[in-house]
Amino acid sequence: MKAVRIFEHGDVDVLKYDDYPMPEVGEYDVLVKVMATSVSGWDLKYRRGDFYHLKEGAGALPGRKAFPLPQQLGREATGEVVEVGSRVTRFKPGERVLGLVHPENPYCDNAIRGLGNLSTEIDYPGHTMFGGNAQFISRPEHYFMPLPDNVSFQAAAAGAWAYPTSYRIVQNRLKVKPNDTIMVTGTAGGMGIATLQWAKLMGARVIGVTRNEEKIPHLIKLGCDQVIDTTQKVEENRQLMQHFTQNKGIDHAVEFTGSAYLQELILKTIRVGGNLCPVGGDMSQHPFPVRVMDFTRLELNMVGIRGSRLIDQVTYLQALSDKKIEPVVFKTLPLSRIVDAHLLAEKGKNIVGKVMLDPWSE
Ligand SMILES: NC(=O)c1ccc[n+]([C@@H]2O[C@H](COP(=O)([O-])OP(=O)(O)OC[C@H]3O[C@@H](n4cnc5c(N)ncnc54)[C@H](OP(=O)(O)O)[C@@H]3O)[C@@H](O)[C@H]2O)c1
Repeated sequence: MKAVRIFEHGDVDVLKYDDYPMPEVGEYDVLVKVMATSVSGWDLKYRRGDFYHLKEGAGALPGRKAFPLPQQLGREATGEVVEVGSRVTRFKPGERVLGLVHPENPYCDNAIRGLGNLSTEIDYPGHTMFGGNAQFISRPEHYFMPLPDNVSFQAAAAGAWAYPTSYRIVQNRLKVKPNDTIMVTGTAGGMGIATLQWAKLMGARVIGVTRNEEKIPHLIKLGCDQVIDTTQKVEENRQLMQHFTQNKGIDHAVEFTGSAYLQELILKTIRVGGNLCPVGGDMSQHPFPVRVMDFTRLELNMVGIRGSRLIDQVTYLQALSDKKIEPVVFKTLPLSRIVDAHLLAEKGKNIVGKVMLDPWSE
């Protein structure tokens, strides 16, 4: 089969599109013909090897195994079951499935505490086991969920990581309520769009953020009530946000970029008793510049997030089937053009939405 693997970390030339052996199918495994897969922000980090939790040691994520090489990237995948192991009970050949980005180990201590997203003693596709950038994948049956008939392979794969995780951010970590104001930085990215859509669904007013003026109309069309352009001065944007919130300040900020500019703007615009969720950017390098006095003066709530629980992934598929959310695809490229796909996701200009991969087109 055709697949993309990396044998070392580095620039796009480490991505090797080639013929590889078909995956083995164990007695509890399901073999799936991949119909849609993607390039996510984390695939770029995994390829570059520039993320601290890939290595063992002080910065590692508790319970998460180190990233092995060679690796097949691709956190997201959907497809059709072609073969099942002798002990598989939930799936039959011909059924459509979503590969779980965050499978759970229900027996580990964290899952028993309700934190299945922090499961230990489990492998994550495209991280510690082969990911979806291939024509076929084989995984244990509890790594898949049935895909509703009215949901396309592409739509389900495009949002499989971002929507469940961002649902957990807004619903479980921030507890966003109708009429709350939420600022979502990096709004044009996969995570940003997903957070925007969930927040709108919950009745919140959303302030989007971009560094690129040309994206503003897209972000308004996607539902932002106000968009901040970070080429403007912090003080100008602070005033704009104060006006938008009638001088109350924002209730919530979700920070996806690690930008010092945005961190400063958030600390100047968050309301007393507000909630802050720092999620992304170059997590190893940039401490969030919050002083004890900021916690005191604002009585600030700061929450972390890592991935999604099974319930968040179930909610995602249901909302997709009910047409309440709609993942945005920027472009679909053949898997053979994996280098172009990574360059587009990493360095492309004016990108709004996901870069997808089709393992079967030329
Ligand atoms: N903690 C978790 O569980 C979790 C889960 C998923 C993802 N993440 C992290 O969340 C982040 C967002 O993911 P994503 O897939 O949506 O990423 P993405 O598509 O690569 O980027 C999001 C957006 O951020 C803006 N941006 C990027 N670098 C910036 C910078 N230096 N300063 C200001 N803005 C910048 C860009 O928008 P403009 O060009 O419009 O400014 C970009 O479209 C990533 O860092 C990812 O690793 C964390």
